[in-house]
Amino acid sequence: MQKSDKNLLDINNLDISFIQARGAAHALRGIDLTIASGEILALVGESGSGKTVTSMSIMGLVPIPPARINKGSLLFKGNDLIGQPHAEMRKLRGKEIAMIFQEPAKYLNPSLKIGEQITEMLVLHLNMSKKQAVEKALEYLDVVGLGKSRRVLNSYPHELSGGMKQRVMIAMAICCNPSLLIADEPTTALDVTLQLQILKLIRNLKKQFSMGVLFISHNLGIVREIADRISVIYAGKIVESASNQNLFEDTLHPYTRALLQSIPDAEKRGHRLRAIPGSVPDAENIPSGCGFHPRCPLAQDMCSQEIPLTKDYGNGHSAACHMVH
Ligand SMILES: Nc1ncnc2c1ncn2[C@@H]1O[C@H](COP(=O)(O)OP(=O)(O)OP(=O)(O)O)[C@@H](O)[C@H]1O
Ligand SMILES: [Mg+2]
Repeated sequence: MQKSDKNLLDINNLDISFIQARGAAHALRGIDLTIASGEILALVGESGSGKTVTSMSIMGLVPIPPARINKGSLLFKGNDLIGQPHAEMRKLRGKEIAMIFQEPAKYLNPSLKIGEQITEMLVLHLNMSKKQAVEKALEYLDVVGLGKSRRVLNSYPHELSGGMKQRVMIAMAICCNPSLLIADEPTTALDVTLQLQILKLIRNLKKQFSMGVLFISHNLGIVREIADRISVIYAGKIVESASNQNLFEDTLHPYTRALLQSIPDAEKRGHRLRAIPGSVPDAENIPSGCGFHPRCPLAQDMCSQEIPLTKDYGNGHSAACHMVH
């Protein structure tokens, strides 16, 4: 096993295809990502760009087959998660690496009370007694802003509002004190006020528990509110990575620029948002050269011929584009 102490998570050149009868879908094409403890890395890109495949691969939940890992490594605390036995991954999931989802309703069991669902995790992963687990569950409900509420503990999911369910799911995710929290579009289904509350909660939890967070979104406006660093993904490739400030103030990649112009934020209210023309290629038909060239306003001949290398532009800012000089 390779060892590296620098980062909590260190994904190197991870390359994954789904093998199907009609051909291979090349979902991740050699991605690099790092997350340190106490850092929120946002992964941003349009639908179909590879965000969920990335998070599922960290959780060890990409089904092999049909998926095939072509190359790369996925170091968590220095240990490569690729090829780990299912039993090992099951121990890590929920305890060391936890995940929250867009739709809490799909994740919470409708036929079990909230209390039973949280205490089950604590008994399973931390060997707590039932009584200890109930106390701990109440503490975590308090941490996520629901108060030490026995009423919530004794409720079924359908008895709670959308925002409360989201908070319960976050309580379940963090109750075993994970080192890494993965949040896949956790606020997309919520209204704006609730979105901001949940973002604030995640930011506070990161600080309080010094977790690393992988925050997935298609919306750069949301990401700006929460991320320390941002990686932009397009057609299974990271096209730009930078600190939050540098990505917005010194944007290098034309795709990032196009995403920025499509942020639905207050400043732009009343102006027409610019949707990015064309659509994300599907993973079975990725264009030659730079995957973005058919939609890129700056594309030249070489962009359809050569895959651009990722270059470092200083201060941890990197981009993969022939037209950045
Ligand atoms: N099980 C699978 N079999 C075949 N192709 C797949 C499979 N899972 C994902 N893909 C393909 O991999 C690519 C990336 O999918 P992924 O779900 O990671 O996108 P995403 O960025 O999470 O999109 P969204 O914003 O819609 O959630 C897509 O082209 C998708 O069709
Ligand atoms: Mg997804």
